[in-house]
Amino acid sequence: MASHPKTEITRWLLDTRTLWSGTKIQDAARDHLALLPPAEQNPILSKYRFPDACMSLGSALLKRAFLAKATGLPWSSIAFSRRLDPRLGKPCWASPPGAPPNDEWPHIDFNVSHQKGLVVLVGAVGRGAPVPDVSVDLTSPNERNDMASIAGSDVPTFLAVFSDVFSEQELFALAWSLPPQGSVRLLDGEEVSNVILGRLDRTVKCGQALSVMFDGRQVKFESELLVEEKVRNFYAAFALKEAYVKLAGEGLAARWIQEIEFTGVRAPRKGAVPRCSLAGVFGETIGNKDEEVSITFKGEEVRDVLFELQSFEEDYIIASMIKPLEQDQEFPDWHRISLDRDIMPLATKWS
Ligand SMILES: CC(C)(COP(=O)(O)OP(=O)(O)OC[C@H]1O[C@@H](n2cnc3c(N)ncnc32)[C@H](O)[C@@H]1OP(=O)(O)O)[C@@H](O)C(=O)NCCC(=O)NCCS
Repeated sequence: MASHPKTEITRWLLDTRTLWSGTKIQDAARDHLALLPPAEQNPILSKYRFPDACMSLGSALLKRAFLAKATGLPWSSIAFSRRLDPRLGKPCWASPPGAPPNDEWPHIDFNVSHQKGLVVLVGAVGRGAPVPDVSVDLTSPNERNDMASIAGSDVPTFLAVFSDVFSEQELFALAWSLPPQGSVRLLDGEEVSNVILGRLDRTVKCGQALSVMFDGRQVKFESELLVEEKVRNFYAAFALKEAYVKLAGEGLAARWIQEIEFTGVRAPRKGAVPRCSLAGVFGETIGNKDEEVSITFKGEEVRDVLFELQSFEEDYIIASMIKPLEQDQEFPDWHRISLDRDIMPLATKWS
């Protein structure tokens, strides 16, 4: 691969859960909303649920701040376009006509995802060099109360709903196996590795009493714990798949979506619940170097994609992806964005 050492990768996380309070975004976030042009306010104002309006506003602020910082342009001069399709394509930066004096505009790609109050952005900036496609997808395994629907059926029935997105082999593996590096966490916090669980990995129903020999003693637990791990593995696989189809901008409409297959996917171990401090909220990461996940397209191994799965708190899994143009490309740490510290100075710099 050619070397393009001037690529900067950014990863930002904005937590909107406690940023604004109320029921109407136009009242709760009047000043922040006013930072956006009317065309960008409209989709935010049209959100029916207040938390969705907060994420939509957070996304708009994050994208504009990222571009203002990367280009050095005034906040109000940032313009957007879309790749592939003017309505449904991947949002991208529309550089102003003409080049800046003595230079050229940076090359930029970025992508955002939002779920259950969080907004994440992955961006790439290349100065004098092309940039890789980047993408991100955020999932929250507990958001839709899937365990309640599985309790009335089983894991394969739950997964069958996603047969437009996953191949039969992917769904079979997610339903009927547990990757060897994973584990099931018992209610007392003890972790039983999937290797020790052995053929209990065939468990697909809730409400069953399971038992296994562990550390020389018989340990008993409810099958819910194992089923929940399968649900988390599924959400990790979903995040990877969605990140992949967001790279070039086709999204879930990609006709080849079932043919990009992720095997051996497990959910990273959960991060900590935020208490007095935020220590430990970012949980385990799993990436290419761990050699757990294999990616194939139409049966051929895919080597030109860098990915990372990371858990955040107990409820989130983030998949970041880059199609790197340089060797040794790595993901930087996540930067938690503060509206006052990081965004307002960019938004008000030119006013
Ligand atoms: C893009 C898509 C995968 C997003 O999935 P989601 O789980 O609903 O939402 P996420 O929170 O993960 O991501 C939302 C963000 O994805 C970005 N996005 C939108 N369309 C995108 C696309 N085609 N590719 C990549 N990213 C896209 C946007 O920035 C959006 O956030 P914003 O509206 O606040 O700017 C999904 O909406 C989709 O597949 N849409 C159809 C795309 C399509 O029809 N493409 C055909 C034209 S090429």
